[in-house]
Amino acid sequence: MNGFETAIYEKDGSIARVTLNRPQALNAFSVRMRDDLFEILGAVKADDEVRAVVFSGAGDKAFCAGADLKEFLTAPSAVKARHIRSVRDLWRLFLSMPQPLIAALHGYVLGSGIEIALFCDVRLASPDTVFGFPEVTLGILPAAGGTQTLPRIAGLPAALDMLLTGRRLSAQEALDRGLVSRIVPRETLLPMAEDLAREIASFDPIAVRNAKQALIRGMDLTLDQGLDLEWRLAAETKVARKAFGHFYTRRHE
Ligand code: CAA
Repeated sequence: MNGFETAIYEKDGSIARVTLNRPQALNAFSVRMRDDLFEILGAVKADDEVRAVVFSGAGDKAFCAGADLKEFLTAPSAVKARHIRSVRDLWRLFLSMPQPLIAALHGYVLGSGIEIALFCDVRLASPDTVFGFPEVTLGILPAAGGTQTLPRIAGLPAALDMLLTGRRLSAQEALDRGLVSRIVPRETLLPMAEDLAREIASFDPIAVRNAKQALIRGMDLTLDQGLDLEWRLAAETKVARKAFGHFYTRRHE
Protein backbone atom coordinates (compact mmCIF):
# COMPACT_ATOMS: atom_id res chain seq x y z
CA MET A 1 0.00 0.00 0.00
CA ASN A 2 1.73 3.20 -1.16
CA GLY A 3 1.52 6.07 -3.61
CA PHE A 4 -0.11 8.52 -1.21
CA GLU A 5 0.41 12.21 -1.89
CA THR A 6 0.63 13.45 1.69
CA ALA A 7 1.69 10.47 3.79
CA ILE A 8 4.11 7.58 3.61
CA TYR A 9 2.92 4.17 4.73
CA GLU A 10 5.48 1.46 5.51
CA LYS A 11 4.93 -1.95 6.99
CA ASP A 12 7.86 -3.61 8.68
CA GLY A 13 6.90 -7.05 9.98
CA SER A 14 4.39 -6.55 12.76
CA ILE A 15 4.74 -2.77 13.02
CA ALA A 16 3.69 0.00 10.64
CA ARG A 17 4.96 3.54 10.13
CA VAL A 18 2.83 6.45 9.00
CA THR A 19 4.77 9.60 8.12
CA LEU A 20 2.92 12.85 7.49
CA ASN A 21 4.68 14.03 4.39
CA ARG A 22 4.22 17.66 3.40
CA PRO A 23 7.42 19.06 4.90
CA GLN A 24 7.32 22.15 2.66
CA ALA A 25 4.07 23.14 4.43
CA LEU A 26 5.14 21.87 7.88
CA ASN A 27 2.94 18.79 7.28
CA ALA A 28 -0.20 20.94 7.46
CA PHE A 29 -3.32 18.79 7.55
CA SER A 30 -5.10 19.13 4.20
CA VAL A 31 -8.20 17.54 2.69
CA ARG A 32 -5.88 15.26 0.70
CA MET A 33 -4.11 14.24 3.92
CA ARG A 34 -7.44 13.48 5.56
CA ASP A 35 -8.34 11.18 2.65
CA ASP A 36 -4.90 9.53 2.61
CA LEU A 37 -4.95 8.90 6.36
CA PHE A 38 -8.51 7.59 6.14
CA GLU A 39 -7.42 5.03 3.57
CA ILE A 40 -4.26 4.08 5.44
CA LEU A 41 -5.95 3.69 8.83
CA GLY A 42 -8.81 1.71 7.31
CA ALA A 43 -6.32 -0.75 5.85
CA VAL A 44 -4.25 -0.93 9.05
CA LYS A 45 -7.36 -1.56 11.13
CA ALA A 46 -8.22 -4.57 8.98
CA ASP A 47 -4.66 -5.92 8.98
CA ASP A 48 -4.16 -8.37 11.86
CA GLU A 49 -0.46 -8.58 11.10
CA VAL A 50 0.05 -4.98 12.18
CA ARG A 51 0.29 -4.89 15.95
CA ALA A 52 1.47 -1.33 16.59
CA VAL A 53 1.75 1.85 14.52
CA VAL A 54 4.22 4.74 14.73
CA PHE A 55 3.17 8.22 13.53
CA SER A 56 5.76 10.87 12.74
CA GLY A 57 6.22 13.97 10.58
CA ALA A 58 8.68 14.43 7.70
CA GLY A 59 11.22 17.25 7.75
CA ASP A 60 13.05 19.05 10.55
CA LYS A 61 10.51 21.61 11.60
CA ALA A 62 7.21 19.99 12.45
CA PHE A 63 5.15 16.94 13.19
CA CYS A 64 2.18 18.95 11.88
CA ALA A 65 1.45 22.71 12.01
CA GLY A 66 -2.33 22.20 12.07
CA ALA A 67 -5.03 22.49 9.47
CA ASP A 68 -3.94 23.79 6.10
CA LEU A 69 -4.78 27.48 6.46
CA LYS A 70 -4.40 28.03 2.72
CA GLU A 71 -7.30 25.65 2.14
CA PHE A 72 -9.49 27.30 4.75
CA LEU A 73 -10.65 29.98 2.31
CA THR A 74 -11.69 27.34 -0.19
CA ALA A 75 -13.50 25.16 2.37
CA PRO A 76 -16.76 23.57 1.18
CA SER A 77 -20.11 24.66 2.59
CA ALA A 78 -21.05 23.52 6.09
CA VAL A 79 -23.60 21.10 4.61
CA LYS A 80 -21.03 19.51 2.31
CA ALA A 81 -18.44 19.35 5.11
CA ARG A 82 -20.98 17.62 7.37
CA HIS A 83 -21.77 15.09 4.65
CA ILE A 84 -18.08 14.33 4.04
CA ARG A 85 -17.55 13.88 7.76
CA SER A 86 -20.47 11.45 7.97
CA VAL A 87 -18.96 9.16 5.32
CA ARG A 88 -15.29 9.72 6.11
CA ASP A 89 -14.93 10.42 9.81
CA LEU A 90 -11.18 10.18 10.29
CA TRP A 91 -11.36 11.10 13.98
CA ARG A 92 -13.76 8.32 14.90
CA LEU A 93 -11.60 5.97 12.83
CA PHE A 94 -8.57 7.02 14.91
CA LEU A 95 -10.58 6.37 18.06
CA SER A 96 -11.63 2.91 16.89
CA MET A 97 -8.14 1.67 15.98
CA PRO A 98 -7.52 -1.62 17.79
CA GLN A 99 -3.72 -1.42 17.58
CA PRO A 100 -1.70 0.84 19.89
CA LEU A 101 -0.69 4.06 18.13
CA ILE A 102 2.59 5.74 19.07
CA ALA A 103 3.27 9.37 18.17
CA ALA A 104 6.90 10.47 17.66
CA LEU A 105 6.61 14.26 17.94
CA HIS A 106 9.04 17.00 17.03
CA GLY A 107 8.92 20.68 16.13
CA TYR A 108 5.50 22.29 15.76
CA VAL A 109 2.55 20.21 16.93
CA LEU A 110 -0.34 22.64 16.52
CA GLY A 111 -4.10 22.49 16.02
CA SER A 112 -5.04 19.36 14.06
CA GLY A 113 -1.44 18.20 14.62
CA ILE A 114 -1.85 17.98 18.37
CA GLU A 115 -5.32 16.50 17.83
CA ILE A 116 -3.81 13.64 15.78
CA ALA A 117 -1.24 13.13 18.54
CA LEU A 118 -3.97 13.03 21.19
CA PHE A 119 -5.66 10.16 19.35
CA CYS A 120 -2.43 8.19 19.75
CA ASP A 121 -1.92 6.04 22.82
CA VAL A 122 1.70 6.86 23.63
CA ARG A 123 3.34 10.20 22.84
CA LEU A 124 7.10 10.68 22.75
CA ALA A 125 8.48 14.15 22.07
CA SER A 126 11.89 15.59 21.26
CA PRO A 127 13.04 18.61 23.33
CA ASP A 128 12.30 21.06 20.47
CA THR A 129 8.58 20.20 20.33
CA VAL A 130 6.10 23.09 20.61
CA PHE A 131 2.49 22.24 21.39
CA GLY A 132 -0.50 24.51 20.95
CA PHE A 133 -4.16 24.96 20.10
CA PRO A 134 -4.27 28.27 18.17
CA GLU A 135 -7.88 27.78 17.06
CA VAL A 136 -9.55 30.28 19.39
CA THR A 137 -7.03 32.94 18.37
CA LEU A 138 -8.13 32.31 14.76
CA GLY A 139 -11.84 32.59 15.63
CA ILE A 140 -12.54 28.87 15.24
CA LEU A 141 -12.86 25.81 17.46
CA PRO A 142 -10.80 22.64 17.40
CA ALA A 143 -12.83 20.25 15.27
CA ALA A 144 -10.74 17.13 15.36
CA GLY A 145 -11.65 16.02 18.84
CA GLY A 146 -9.35 18.37 20.77
CA THR A 147 -11.98 19.76 23.13
CA GLN A 148 -12.78 16.20 24.17
CA THR A 149 -9.44 14.39 24.04
CA LEU A 150 -7.31 17.09 25.70
CA PRO A 151 -9.23 17.29 29.01
CA ARG A 152 -9.39 13.49 29.17
CA ILE A 153 -5.62 13.29 28.86
CA ALA A 154 -4.31 16.45 30.53
CA GLY A 155 -7.24 17.28 32.85
CA LEU A 156 -9.74 20.13 32.63
CA PRO A 157 -7.64 22.98 34.12
CA ALA A 158 -4.71 22.36 31.76
CA ALA A 159 -7.10 21.95 28.82
CA LEU A 160 -8.90 25.22 29.59
CA ASP A 161 -5.57 27.01 29.96
CA MET A 162 -4.35 25.77 26.57
CA LEU A 163 -7.57 26.03 24.59
CA LEU A 164 -8.81 29.40 25.84
CA THR A 165 -5.47 31.17 25.54
CA GLY A 166 -3.89 29.44 22.55
CA ARG A 167 -0.69 29.42 24.66
CA ARG A 168 2.12 27.29 23.32
CA LEU A 169 3.70 24.65 25.55
CA SER A 170 7.29 23.43 25.53
CA ALA A 171 8.08 19.72 25.59
CA GLN A 172 8.87 19.97 29.32
CA GLU A 173 5.53 21.66 30.07
CA ALA A 174 3.76 19.01 27.98
CA LEU A 175 5.52 16.32 30.01
CA ASP A 176 4.55 18.03 33.28
CA ARG A 177 0.89 18.06 32.19
CA GLY A 178 0.88 14.43 31.07
CA LEU A 179 0.47 15.35 27.39
CA VAL A 180 3.55 13.31 26.52
CA SER A 181 5.01 10.39 28.41
CA ARG A 182 8.68 10.87 27.53
CA ILE A 183 11.10 13.44 26.15
CA VAL A 184 13.61 11.78 23.88
CA PRO A 185 16.64 13.29 22.06
CA ARG A 186 15.71 14.19 18.49
CA GLU A 187 18.19 11.74 16.94
CA THR A 188 16.79 8.78 18.88
CA LEU A 189 13.10 9.77 18.71
CA LEU A 190 12.08 7.59 15.80
CA PRO A 191 14.24 4.55 16.70
CA MET A 192 12.87 4.69 20.24
CA ALA A 193 9.27 4.93 19.02
CA GLU A 194 9.90 1.95 16.75
CA ASP A 195 11.55 -0.04 19.55
CA LEU A 196 8.51 0.63 21.68
CA ALA A 197 6.21 -0.47 18.84
CA ARG A 198 8.24 -3.67 18.39
CA GLU A 199 8.15 -4.37 22.11
CA ILE A 200 4.36 -3.99 22.16
CA ALA A 201 4.12 -6.09 19.00
CA SER A 202 5.99 -8.92 20.73
CA PHE A 203 3.20 -9.32 23.30
CA ASP A 204 0.03 -11.36 22.93
CA PRO A 205 -2.03 -9.29 20.44
CA ILE A 206 -5.38 -10.07 22.01
CA ALA A 207 -4.15 -9.02 25.46
CA VAL A 208 -2.76 -5.78 24.00
CA ARG A 209 -5.89 -4.93 22.02
CA ASN A 210 -8.20 -5.72 24.92
CA ALA A 211 -6.08 -3.71 27.36
CA LYS A 212 -6.29 -0.73 25.01
CA GLN A 213 -10.02 -1.19 24.61
CA ALA A 214 -10.59 -1.47 28.37
CA LEU A 215 -8.69 1.77 28.97
CA ILE A 216 -10.08 3.85 26.11
CA ARG A 217 -13.71 2.71 26.39
CA GLY A 218 -13.54 2.65 30.18
CA MET A 219 -12.86 6.41 30.22
CA ASP A 220 -16.44 7.03 29.07
CA LEU A 221 -18.09 4.66 31.58
CA THR A 222 -18.97 4.81 35.24
CA LEU A 223 -16.56 2.90 37.49
CA ASP A 224 -19.16 0.18 37.91
CA GLN A 225 -19.64 -0.20 34.14
CA GLY A 226 -15.88 -0.02 33.67
CA LEU A 227 -15.34 -2.91 36.07
CA ASP A 228 -17.85 -4.96 34.05
CA LEU A 229 -16.04 -4.10 30.84
CA GLU A 230 -12.68 -5.05 32.35
CA TRP A 231 -14.07 -8.34 33.64
CA ARG A 232 -15.57 -9.20 30.25
CA LEU A 233 -12.43 -8.34 28.31
CA ALA A 234 -10.19 -10.17 30.79
CA ALA A 235 -12.36 -13.29 30.45
CA GLU A 236 -12.37 -12.96 26.64
CA THR A 237 -8.57 -12.64 26.64
CA LYS A 238 -8.22 -15.78 28.74
CA VAL A 239 -10.54 -17.78 26.48
CA ALA A 240 -8.86 -16.51 23.30
CA ARG A 241 -5.46 -17.35 24.72
CA LYS A 242 -6.54 -20.90 25.45
CA ALA A 243 -8.23 -21.34 22.07
CA PHE A 244 -5.86 -19.44 19.80
CA GLY A 245 -2.62 -19.15 21.77
CA HIS A 246 -0.62 -21.45 19.54
CA PHE A 247 -2.22 -20.11 16.38
CA TYR A 248 -1.32 -16.51 17.25
CA THR A 249 2.19 -17.35 18.37
CA ARG A 250 2.93 -19.23 15.15
CA ARG A 251 1.23 -16.71 12.93
CA HIS A 252 3.21 -13.73 14.22
CA GLU A 253 6.61 -15.37 14.62
N1 CAA B 1 -1.24 25.66 6.66
C1 CAA B 1 -0.66 25.82 5.45
N2 CAA B 1 0.64 26.13 5.30
C2 CAA B 1 1.40 26.24 6.41
C3 CAA B 1 0.86 26.06 7.70
C4 CAA B 1 -0.54 25.74 7.81
N3 CAA B 1 -1.12 25.51 8.98
N4 CAA B 1 1.84 26.24 8.62
C5 CAA B 1 2.95 26.54 7.91
N5 CAA B 1 2.69 26.53 6.59
C6 CAA B 1 3.61 26.80 5.48
C7 CAA B 1 3.94 28.29 5.39
O1 CAA B 1 2.94 28.97 4.66
C8 CAA B 1 5.28 28.26 4.69
O2 CAA B 1 5.05 28.03 3.33
P1 CAA B 1 5.80 28.94 2.22
O3 CAA B 1 7.26 28.64 2.41
O4 CAA B 1 5.25 28.45 0.92
O5 CAA B 1 5.44 30.34 2.54
C9 CAA B 1 5.93 26.99 5.25
O6 CAA B 1 4.86 26.19 5.78
C10 CAA B 1 6.89 27.29 6.40
O7 CAA B 1 6.19 28.01 7.38
P2 CAA B 1 6.75 29.38 8.01
O8 CAA B 1 7.62 30.10 7.03
O9 CAA B 1 5.58 30.15 8.58
O10 CAA B 1 7.67 28.82 9.18
P3 CAA B 1 8.05 29.56 10.53
O11 CAA B 1 9.11 28.73 11.15
O12 CAA B 1 8.35 30.99 10.30
O13 CAA B 1 6.71 29.49 11.45
C11 CAA B 1 4.80 28.43 12.45
C12 CAA B 1 6.21 28.27 11.86
C13 CAA B 1 4.86 29.29 13.74
C14 CAA B 1 4.25 27.06 12.77
C15 CAA B 1 3.91 29.17 11.42
O14 CAA B 1 4.07 28.53 10.15
C16 CAA B 1 2.46 29.17 11.77
O15 CAA B 1 2.03 29.91 12.64
N6 CAA B 1 1.66 28.29 11.07
C17 CAA B 1 0.24 28.24 11.26
C18 CAA B 1 -0.13 27.47 12.53
C19 CAA B 1 -1.64 27.42 12.66
O16 CAA B 1 -2.26 28.39 13.06
N7 CAA B 1 -2.24 26.28 12.29
C20 CAA B 1 -3.66 26.10 12.19
C21 CAA B 1 -4.21 25.59 13.50
S1 CAA B 1 -5.95 25.60 13.48
C22 CAA B 1 -6.39 24.02 13.13
O17 CAA B 1 -5.60 23.11 13.07
C23 CAA B 1 -7.86 23.88 12.83
C24 CAA B 1 -8.65 22.80 13.41
O18 CAA B 1 -8.28 22.01 14.26
C25 CAA B 1 -10.02 22.74 12.94
